[in-house]
Amino acid sequence: MDITFAKPSYPSIGGLVALAAEKSGLTTTGSKLDRKMRGALKRAMRAEKFTGKNGQVIAILAPTGLRADRVVLVGVGKGEIFDSASAERLGGLVVGKLKSLGVSHAALAIDPIPGSTLDASHIAAHMGYGASLRGYRFDRYKTKRTKTDTTRLRKLTIMTTNPSKARSTYKPLAGIANGVFLTRDLVSEPANILSPIELADRAKGLRDDNVTVEVLTPAKMSELGMGALLGVAQGSAREPRLVVMQWKGAPSHANQTPIAFVGKGVTFDTGGISIKPSAGMEDMKWDMGGSGVVIGLMRSLAQRKARTNAVGVVGLVENMPSGTAQRPGDIVTSMSGKTIEVLNTDAEGRLVLADALWYTQGRFKPRFMVDLATLTGAIIVALGSERAGLFCNDKGLTQQLMAAGEMAGEKLWPMPIDDAYDADIDCDIADMKNIGSGRGAGSVTAAKFLQRFVDKRTPWAHLDIAGVTWSKKEQILVPKGGTGFGVRLLDRLVAENYETR
Ligand code: BES
Ligand code: MN
Ligand code: ZN
Repeated sequence: MDITFAKPSYPSIGGLVALAAEKSGLTTTGSKLDRKMRGALKRAMRAEKFTGKNGQVIAILAPTGLRADRVVLVGVGKGEIFDSASAERLGGLVVGKLKSLGVSHAALAIDPIPGSTLDASHIAAHMGYGASLRGYRFDRYKTKRTKTDTTRLRKLTIMTTNPSKARSTYKPLAGIANGVFLTRDLVSEPANILSPIELADRAKGLRDDNVTVEVLTPAKMSELGMGALLGVAQGSAREPRLVVMQWKGAPSHANQTPIAFVGKGVTFDTGGISIKPSAGMEDMKWDMGGSGVVIGLMRSLAQRKARTNAVGVVGLVENMPSGTAQRPGDIVTSMSGKTIEVLNTDAEGRLVLADALWYTQGRFKPRFMVDLATLTGAIIVALGSERAGLFCNDKGLTQQLMAAGEMAGEKLWPMPIDDAYDADIDCDIADMKNIGSGRGAGSVTAAKFLQRFVDKRTPWAHLDIAGVTWSKKEQILVPKGGTGFGVRLLDRLVAENYETR
């Protein structure tokens, strides 16, 4: 979907969208429209009991005299509490409505909102951002234009008296959105296309945004001793990769140690020899979601030129059963030197992350490490798809992440990592086993496993995103499919706490 900013005018085709605040009624554009329509808009408002409450929408066919096909009126609620986030959600809502109306072109008139201190150009930019997030589509594999295709929303013109100001506010937001879209694209790709090598190649595309990208091959990884990651990969005909991305956006602080993001990138998780049931296994194409977020986040930070030094590390493997696959009971030696008895080959994400975390910590000595992984089905049982699980060894980082999540509308919930849970992964014949002994707290034992590869002095957080990476329903800022959950959250974390002046 194309988003452009322009001076106000009356569009000749498609939909015309105007805003109305609660109580104070129609904004300038709305009143003008009502006059042109000889009071039909106010009548519709009365008939529909439209009060301008936030999120309320009415759509009417435009009467003769107007060149547009449809007039849509959107409630913004109370101007006093209307902020950037409300504008984004409203932008998403408008796109959702236009999509369901089958409108292909639309214009959105932004007038100053009574009671709000926000500049109209600011509202325009943030509504545009929300609109673009909702307007995303993954249609790479659609060869024919179906009925829904021809009526899809292709262009949204946002009209405001100062379009150039709106455009410059929109620019960094569009950069963030581009990162979200990259993540959604990667998560949506089928596993026959998106192998570890292909995923590494896509990450190389970040070089266009001035991100440094290094790719480690199996030879290099085995030299480094990454036996945990390589053990997962050995059943697949496709080679694993480890990708290291660096964004140096704080050049005057070139020596400043970076912040680090680490992602699980299992391009397909069959479970390996501990094979999964076939029903629903197709979902496991998005088991690389954590790596997708890290790659998309690097694009967001780079495109909006975040004044920070950030590294992203992703471990990319395919988990397959085969004659060369790892067996239950195998013992592998991780890069840290610690040995792991692999009692379930389907608990593979933690094996990949064990080496990726250890590598990142040793090489970069980062200010903090945040890892993301579609790690456990148990986190879906605990939190559903509303919030991701947050496991963290540092109070300050916990607070920063929780706050960033609320701001971005990508919410987390703190989970325990008491040492009492740690004994569950102790092992009789190796340093640890890759699953707990009991049936309970599967997400916690997974986190405790990861923590064994993180130094006590490194602030570290683990986000279990298994429940939020894919959406089965439309949400205000998220169409069905890959959500990109985590990109906007971590971009906020950086913007609020880790940028130089
Ligand atoms: N990738 C899965 C977790 C998952 C499940 C993600 C459903 C998204 C949706 C992970 O590798 C896995 O298989 N975890 C096992 C761990 C168990 C064997 C200890 C699980 O959750 O069942
Ligand atoms: Mn698995
Ligand atoms: Zn997995």
